[in-house]
Amino acid sequence: MEETRKLIVRHSNRIYRLFWLAALVFILLTVAAVGGLVYLLAFDGDAQSIIDMFNSISLFSHYDESDIAEFDLRTFAIIVDALFIFSHIMFILFMNLLIKVLKQIRSSETPFTKDNAKRLRRAAFLSVIALLFYNFIIAIVAFPVLMLFSALFEYGAYLQAKADETSRIQEEMIVSFAEITENKSAQTGNHVKRVSEYSQIIARQYGLTEEECERIRLASTMHDIGKLLIPAEILEKPARLTDEEFAVIKKHSGYGGELLEHVEGDIMQLARTIALDHHERPDGRGYPEGKTGDGISIEGRIVAVADVYDALTSRRSYKQAWDPNEAYSEIVKNTGTQFDEGVIEAFKTAYPTIEEARRRYADSKELSFIPA
Ligand SMILES: [Fe+2]
Ligand SMILES: [Fe+2]
Repeated sequence: MEETRKLIVRHSNRIYRLFWLAALVFILLTVAAVGGLVYLLAFDGDAQSIIDMFNSISLFSHYDESDIAEFDLRTFAIIVDALFIFSHIMFILFMNLLIKVLKQIRSSETPFTKDNAKRLRRAAFLSVIALLFYNFIIAIVAFPVLMLFSALFEYGAYLQAKADETSRIQEEMIVSFAEITENKSAQTGNHVKRVSEYSQIIARQYGLTEEECERIRLASTMHDIGKLLIPAEILEKPARLTDEEFAVIKKHSGYGGELLEHVEGDIMQLARTIALDHHERPDGRGYPEGKTGDGISIEGRIVAVADVYDALTSRRSYKQAWDPNEAYSEIVKNTGTQFDEGVIEAFKTAYPTIEEARRRYADSKELSFIPA
């Protein structure tokens, strides 16, 4: 998905430059034609030199004496030049539309909007008028082609609306699951909200794209979904866990992976990856699989740091909240063993923003983590 998007952006970057070049050529031709018009208005020369001038500025047509025999030469020349300027302004407007569409693609916005479909329809009509002065056949072909593109954009806008609806439903499902997990696992108030905020902040600092960061923000809310399958007596035990009980708790990441195994949708699949990987460690001493280094997904490595930082700085039934500075030192101390080095670098740099989020979503404040 991400690869396809990058490929599309790369291609549209190339076409974007090409269109700019074409637009520049049209602008230069138009400027030359305006110059020609000024020249013609003050011109007083022979027929052949005017014919030569027409032919030098026209791309598709060739004029000879029979074309202009019935006209006053100077009037004819002025009309042709004015039409040339008009049709080129149309081309420039059309190029401007294409450049705008490509700009949207480059910034990962969808170009399939009803507005663009409408603009293309307008361009179809304008292009016909502009092309008529060049070549009748091209005009006749261009019109249905542009109208077809407009219809495709209209259809794309419809599909986009459907896709938006699907991801909205996905988001709502994620939020509901996260709320259920949070209630069930007796975690302090806004744990899930804070972990998802910290994860997004770290991901952004790490250099992931804004779209990836947003996906991590959402998917990380389900990191502990496997706790739904852990007995309440263990989850809610108001004292330190025995080794046996801890072994049961440790099963929650594997359970999370199983629960989300067959769900569809990219965010849900990322949620599965995070549920599985958020207790793995680069040194291989994590669980459930004991993965090492880059074998752990980057999303899992990010959420691991966010999760532990929040667990340390929050009060739990069996412990007091740590001082943020001590929690910070504890996390940094475990770089390379429990936590990924690159992720810790991002955590350190983004730490002031993380602290700001911690204060904003402190447990005393009642809030829902439904995405804004
Ligand atoms: Fe967990
Ligand atoms: Fe957690």
